Amino acid sequence: MIALEHVSKAFPGRGPEVRAVDDVSIAVGAGELVVLIGPSGSGKTTTMRMINRLETPTEGRITVNGRDVRDLNEVDLRRGIGYVIQQGGLFPHFTVADNVAVVPRLLGWSRQKRRARAHELLALVGLPPERFADRYPRQLSGGQQQRVGVARALAADPPIVLMDEPFGAVDPITRKGLQKELRRIQAEVQKTIVFVTHDIAEAFLLGDRIVLMADGRVVQDATPADLLRNPADPFVTAFIGEDRGLRGLQFTTLEELAEPAPGAATPGAMVLSGALSILDAGRELGRHGANGRHGTANGFWVADAGGNPTGYVSFQRFAATLGETVGASDADPGSADGGHGGVPA
Ligand SMILES: Nc1ncnc2c1ncn2[C@@H]1O[C@H](COP(=O)(O)OP(=O)(O)O)[C@@H](O)[C@H]1O
Ligand SMILES: [Mg+2]
Repeated sequence: MIALEHVSKAFPGRGPEVRAVDDVSIAVGAGELVVLIGPSGSGKTTTMRMINRLETPTEGRITVNGRDVRDLNEVDLRRGIGYVIQQGGLFPHFTVADNVAVVPRLLGWSRQKRRARAHELLALVGLPPERFADRYPRQLSGGQQQRVGVARALAADPPIVLMDEPFGAVDPITRKGLQKELRRIQAEVQKTIVFVTHDIAEAFLLGDRIVLMADGRVVQDATPADLLRNPADPFVTAFIGEDRGLRGLQFTTLEELAEPAPGAATPGAMVLSGALSILDAGRELGRHGANGRHGTANGFWVADAGGNPTGYVSFQRFAATLGETVGASDADPGSADGGHGGVPA
């Protein structure tokens, strides 16, 4: 649905030009949620902004549904692409409902239709419209404002949504709630989403695919499980093993994560001690994966102190856990505020 082909973006600077994006090729399929992750300055935002033509590539081509975005009317293009940014970007003098209905208003929908749509979306993002529709942004918490930002991006039912660190400015517990909420919403509305973050846990939780960027280039483009199985280079390994955001994982051991062993360990299979924390196992996997030692395995064995295999952990399960355990708290402030019902993780 979205294709970037050898896209580069150079910003003219006073000194040498800044190559913010350097020969990036990414394809995003319909209904897919692709996460762009990388350190600050790695070119994530610029990549995203070229998709909805807020920036123009200096080289390469971007297509949406097979059509070069340069050939599309800018205004039409942006109507078909929802956009969520870090600080919500809400209009302070508009009510919540009017903020949600900004694009429908541009599209000339009737007042009644706009209001109905705003209410529907507020309910979808866990803000009961009868309580929130007529408030102003300043009367909402940061997390609630982000929910409004998501509702607004979905208002005109665009097939594509771009989200640039949408939950970056909220506290970790609220962020966890918003992430789970986004997963529920995505299961319901099935948009094609490009999601930027610098939080590896968020990437593992949300991404169908993760595109790792550094210095304007794509370092790796893989499913979460493949990223763990075969980290592309030491940069990926360092990123996976990094403490930031992953601290919660030092208290859960592989023993707790393992499922019953499907049989005897095959010779040469990877075996890790059940006493290892998930965090340490992530580091270990990074090292071994980089060596390509278990390049084709689906997971690894877990052994007791005597070295006897006691269970098995698939990479898929491991990746999902990396995403879910981090900062996990069932105390979702959204629901404390009467927001929404139980959200399946
Ligand atoms: N408008 C601009 N003019 C000059 N340099 C820019 C501009 N926008 C971004 N850059 C530079 O491009 C690089 C990538 O920025 P950005 O895409 O915002 O990275 P990220 O979103 O990954 O933090 C950075 O070095 C940044 O300073
Ligand atoms: Mg950015």
